[in-house]
Amino acid sequence: MSADVAIASRTTSGLDPLLLKNAPSFVEVQFPVGRLSAEAYKERKANLGQTLTALGSYWKGRKPLILCRAVMLGCLLPATNNPAKDLSIFLKLMGMDDAAFLRRGLVPKPSEIVGRLMPVGDIASDEAARLFVIKRRVTEEKKAVWVEEPFDLDAFQNLVEDRSNYLDWDDGIGDAERDKWRLRALDTYTYDEKVKRAKRPEECEDALFDGIWPQINAHLGTSAASLSELVGQLGVARFGHRPRLADTFCGGGSIPFEGARVGCDVYASDLNPIACMLTWGAFNMIGAVPERRAEIDEAQQEIVAAVDAEIIRLGIEHDEEGNRAKAYLYCIEARCPKTGWMVPMAPSWVISKSRNVVAKLVPDHAVKRYEIEIHAGVSADEMKEAEKGTVRDGRLVHPMNPERSGVEIKTIRGDFGIPAATPAIVSGSGIGWTSCHGRTIYSKSGFIASSGSRRRVSARVARKLSSQR
Ligand SMILES: C[S@@+](CC[C@H](N)C(=O)[O-])C[C@H]1O[C@@H](n2cnc3c(N)ncnc32)[C@H](O)[C@@H]1O
Repeated sequence: MSADVAIASRTTSGLDPLLLKNAPSFVEVQFPVGRLSAEAYKERKANLGQTLTALGSYWKGRKPLILCRAVMLGCLLPATNNPAKDLSIFLKLMGMDDAAFLRRGLVPKPSEIVGRLMPVGDIASDEAARLFVIKRRVTEEKKAVWVEEPFDLDAFQNLVEDRSNYLDWDDGIGDAERDKWRLRALDTYTYDEKVKRAKRPEECEDALFDGIWPQINAHLGTSAASLSELVGQLGVARFGHRPRLADTFCGGGSIPFEGARVGCDVYASDLNPIACMLTWGAFNMIGAVPERRAEIDEAQQEIVAAVDAEIIRLGIEHDEEGNRAKAYLYCIEARCPKTGWMVPMAPSWVISKSRNVVAKLVPDHAVKRYEIEIHAGVSADEMKEAEKGTVRDGRLVHPMNPERSGVEIKTIRGDFGIPAATPAIVSGSGIGWTSCHGRTIYSKSGFIASSGSRRRVSARVARKLSSQR
């Protein structure tokens, strides 16, 4: 049965069970890939702001939640004989139609509306004068008061907007008309521009769906007032019950998590116990009700504090002054076949551009090896020198090799059947980045810290660590 026939025979309280049993799905006919790519990219770029990354940020293969939602809705929604309307309904449900951007926090200001529409002739000066006023804050008898000036093109063009001067709506313009002009301004944006400036749909919660249900229900024959209700009704119409979603390779849990959020009954499993743990955590921690979330946060803080107290008690990653290691930078060392020197390998020795911190290689002739010293607050020339590093264009270059072109790294590694010039890349060198009483400072190999400029630090610890290698 086609979707149109099925929907035509709906009951007044929603769709009858199995009415859409054999109806084609939206996703079989169309899928707005361009818009979805932009949304998925935005979600990925949110990094730690993503919903599930708070748990196991190392799990890189998680599907973007927006993509999971799109596929699920695309499978449930019917493809009717009105593809344009199907698409518009799908976009509304995804919070990706034009009007949704107003609810996603992308609300063009009056100055933007005029700036966008006037150059393309979509708004004339007299229309702008009806819609807008220029507001200015002035001081009268030592009191700040707002005065209104009528819109005037010259005045607008010379207006530098700030807290005291801006273009505003005329009080007589109602919300519906304001939205009409905002939407016309949004029409001049590319989709990518809109997505960049708006919140992600999932950040808007139920407000994303404000006012859409009458149109959704009219097209689908449903009687839903929420996404979960709609998914339930479409499930009954397709399968005779709420949709059941099973992900047997659930990984980080995106698919079952989003399935549950849109209103499916979900099942998940994975071969990898870490994946199972992350998926469990997605449901029971990230997806917990606010009261439970607060309890979990509190318990986590207690554990963090207890572990921290123990680390401090044991003195792990501390020096005798109480400085604490914050992060470590490592590089490997290789033996240079020309000179026999062990050379730390790095494409650059710059550690902090903002604080002019560099690592310097200090030759130790007795053992044919370099010590690494950290210098803070160095000159621009020293920064430039440090940018060169010992790995340059696939070659190992170091101060004790008089041949400035160095040695090809693939020769050292023994690539392509070239016998390795030496037992090759051997050990690691560490540079610690430490924090002391709220300051961020740098030190050699971990522990000792100093925030003084151009000061050699931690030679003693460096020697100790070198002798242990
Ligand atoms: C690409 S990941 C899934 C990513 C997941 N969709 C997400 O969004 O995070 C594939 C998953 O399949 C799991 N897997 C591979 N072979 C499996 C098997 N035979 N049985 C169960 N899980 C398996 C892996 O452990 C891995 O977690």
